[in-house]
Amino acid sequence: MKGKHIVLGITGGIAAYKAATLARLFVKAGAEVQVVMTPAAKEFITPVTMSALTGKPVVSEFFTANTGEWHSHVDLGLWADAMVIAPATASSIAKMAYGVADNMLITTYLSAKAPVFIAPAMDLDMMAHPSTVANIELLKSYGNHIIEPAEGELASHLVGKGRMEEPERIFDVLYRFFNDTDELAGKKVLITAGPTHEAIDPVRFIGNYSTGKMGFALADAAVARGAEVTVVSGPVTVKPCHPAVKVIKVESACEMLAECEKRFDEASVAIFSAAVADYAPAHAESSKIKRETSDLHTLELVKNPDIAATLSGCKHPGQLTVGFALETDNETVNARHKLEKKNLDLIVLNSLRDKGAGFGCDTNKVSVYSSRGLIADLPLKSKQDCARDIISIITAYDPFTH
Ligand code: CTP
Repeated sequence: MKGKHIVLGITGGIAAYKAATLARLFVKAGAEVQVVMTPAAKEFITPVTMSALTGKPVVSEFFTANTGEWHSHVDLGLWADAMVIAPATASSIAKMAYGVADNMLITTYLSAKAPVFIAPAMDLDMMAHPSTVANIELLKSYGNHIIEPAEGELASHLVGKGRMEEPERIFDVLYRFFNDTDELAGKKVLITAGPTHEAIDPVRFIGNYSTGKMGFALADAAVARGAEVTVVSGPVTVKPCHPAVKVIKVESACEMLAECEKRFDEASVAIFSAAVADYAPAHAESSKIKRETSDLHTLELVKNPDIAATLSGCKHPGQLTVGFALETDNETVNARHKLEKKNLDLIVLNSLRDKGAGFGCDTNKVSVYSSRGLIADLPLKSKQDCARDIISIITAYDPFTH
């Protein structure tokens, strides 16, 4: 996205506040962002906020009042590598559909030569109204990309479809558009993520601190390259940014293995990023263990299956398996040992000794090994950037040279 020119159109809806985050994401990714606001949008978010975030004065009127300087929508339309309208209200959608050029945003839209991405945001009844549905269909027929709104609680407190897609997801759609997305096209990628919970009784479990952030970031990065991604995840609150990521929720290691076994055969790539509990209670009590009536001092444990080793042990030619190793000491030796023992092609090592790496952080610092040795030693970066790098390493991996 570095150096790309993005015209960010903001119309007058409550979701306009999310445009600030979207602008920030684009700028952080190295894009140049020119904000164009409708007069109504300024009632919801100030041009000062948007110009501070983008480093460019916001364009809203056809002329600067005191100088008479004309703002050329034609130039803006030509400058843009992509135009994103987020949020797009019912009214602006109707104007775009019928070419009602009564403000700077609509004239810029009509002059845009670049692809246009539209993220509708409105109340559920407005969204479902036949005129809105028809207008959106018209916009699609003109070749515009509609970023469908999500279902959820709306500003009216009603629940339904109409909530503008989250800025991270809109960013991802654009990221995918600007980046060569084809390396994993048509390929299935299976990812394990999060912790597993091994039940002791109905209210207690053995678990760990994994949040699943890295696994879901990998899923988003793989979808962005065109893959069909399924995440088999233990209990986590994190969600993928990309709506195309399929998530199967499980609790225990045995359930995780069972779900992975159903999908492993047809996966071109399997990434085992879950922090699977190595042991589970031999018996999960069906009723809560009571302090007064039980005299429990020890818990009998059984070893869980090793999902990565089980599946990698029966991979077929052409299938690529990638493991993770979170180590506290002897990092490289342990990671390379796991790579061999589990029959993995690549292993991603992160050390708990590195600040900013490991469970719960938004950043990670990893190195990647194949059986031949170190492939990449990445600096500390966001889990999203880290995930993109790991997916790039996977797509470029050649067992004969690496
Ligand atoms: N893994 C797995 N199933 C398990 C244990 C681990 O699939 N029961 C996978 C992890 O997802 C990771 C890799 O194996 O990709 C290494 O996990 P880790 O917990 O570091 O390795 P263990 O083999 O459990 O070794 P140890 O805990 O002793 O370090």
